[in-house]
Order: sequence, then C-alpha cells, then structure tokens
Amino acid sequence: MTGSIVILTGAGISKESGLSTFRDPDGIWAQVRIEDVATPQAFVRDEERVHAFYNARRKALLDPAIAPNDAHVALAILESNWQGGEVTLVTQNVDDLHERAGSQNIIHIHGELLKARCMACRAVAEIRGDMTPVSRCPVCQERGSLRPHVVWFGEEPMQMDEVHGKVSACALFVSIGTSGNVYPAAGLVEIAREAGARTVELNLEPSAGASLFDETRYGKASEIVPVFVARILGVA
Ligand code: OAD
Ligand code: ZN
Repeated sequence: MTGSIVILTGAGISKESGLSTFRDPDGIWAQVRIEDVATPQAFVRDEERVHAFYNARRKALLDPAIAPNDAHVALAILESNWQGGEVTLVTQNVDDLHERAGSQNIIHIHGELLKARCMACRAVAEIRGDMTPVSRCPVCQERGSLRPHVVWFGEEPMQMDEVHGKVSACALFVSIGTSGNVYPAAGLVEIAREAGARTVELNLEPSAGASLFDETRYGKASEIVPVFVARILGVA
C-alpha cells in the first residue's frame, strides 16, 4: 500500500493510560451532565463549576502515573516509519498523550486541556495549574478573561477545513477508540469512503458507524493498535 494515512482517535485510546472515556458506563458523562460543564451556556451560568471540571481533568492528566500506552507509541512509530506518504493524527482527545509518545503531525479538533484561551485578546497560552474566574491573561493582563482551550457542545471543532483536506486525499483512514457519536468527527469515515480510501475501525466494541468501515478489529487499543501498525509497516 502507498499513499497518505489519516488516523482519528478518541477517548478509548487513552483509557488504558488511566484517563476516563465519556460514554462508557464508568465514563465522564455518567458522572456529570454535558449541559453543566461542557457548553458555552454552562460557562456563562457557572464559570467556577466549569473551571473546576477542567481543573480536575488537567490535574488528573498531569498525575505522574499517567503515561502514553502502547497504542499511542505504535502511532508515533507509524508516523516516523511510513514511507508511503503523510501520516496525520486527528484526535478528539484533549490530553497530550500522543505528543508524549512522540507523534508530531497532530490536529486537536476538540482543543487541548493544557492550553487556555483569552476571550479578550484571543491569545492561546500553556496552562498546567488551575484556572479561576479571576485568572489573569499572561499576554494582555486582563483579569477573568481566560477559558479552557477546548471545544464545547454547540461550538465549531478546530481546523476542520484542514482535516477535510487530509481525509479527502488519504488512501487509508483508521478510526481508533471512538464511539462515533459526536459529529463532525463521526462523519469523517464517509468523506474517506467517498475519496476511495480504505477504512478501518479499531475499537473495544463496534461503534455507531461500524458498518461504514471496510475492516474492523475489536479489542483493547494497547493490543490491537500495535498489531495493526506492524502489519501496515510490513514488519509482521
Ligand atoms: P466515547 O466515550 O464516546 O467512546 C469511547 C470509545 O472507546 C467507546 O466506543 C469504547 O468502547 C472504546 N474503548 C473503551 N476502552 C477502550 C480500550 N481500552 N481500547 C479501545 N477502545 C476502547 O469517547 P469519544 O468517542 O472520544 O467531546 O467521544 C467523542 C467526544 O465526545 C469527546 O471528544 C468529547 C465527548 O463529549 C467534547 O467534549 C466536545
Ligand atoms: Zn489576553
């Protein structure tokens, strides 16, 4: 096989690293309601609560026990060894485990937990500690203007034009660890199919759009992703 590859990842790839998924029985949306913590309206209504939710997730991500697993590592190996064209990682995850594993060509369509955005000057800055309703923007010094640099329900995902371009031109599209419930990410497989790409789903269980994939493999990401990558690279 030759040509470029687009990999879409979701929360399932980080599950074995110790981060929660959203829609599994023990997932985040079983504990808090989307409309309380992940919408622009929630932020207007109760900024403190929304900050507390993302502060807790940021703290969990920065726990020394959290590290990339073999699935993240395999995707970094794929990117650095694939000779057939470009490898682009499109992730719905706001964690930085792909970066820590060594992937470089990453598009975070739902934003990043370790970044804050200033609503006054639009600057995006790294943040590792807690944010509060009176935090000061490190760029314009305005107080109370910072929000998490994440995409909330009702907001446009980031860099989607670029993502559409990559998916429309790829030869292989692989979806990993996502339930296929959230659009536009869940619709990328159809764009890939229209472009004539081969489509593969790697997940713990069939996703909402499982029938749209040419090939499906079910199991834990840390087990099935390294096997798949080895096959693509022709080393297994
Ligand atoms: P979900 O929680 O909806 O789906 C996670 C998927 O991972 C499920 O299909 C699980 O079966 C699968 N899974 C669980 N453990 C796994 C493992 N060890 N190996 C492989 N797969 C595993 O998470 P996402 O699809 O990523 O958006 O959710 C999409 C978006 O919805 C998120 O980005 C977030 C959320 O609301 C926003 O907050 C905007
Ligand atoms: Zn600012």
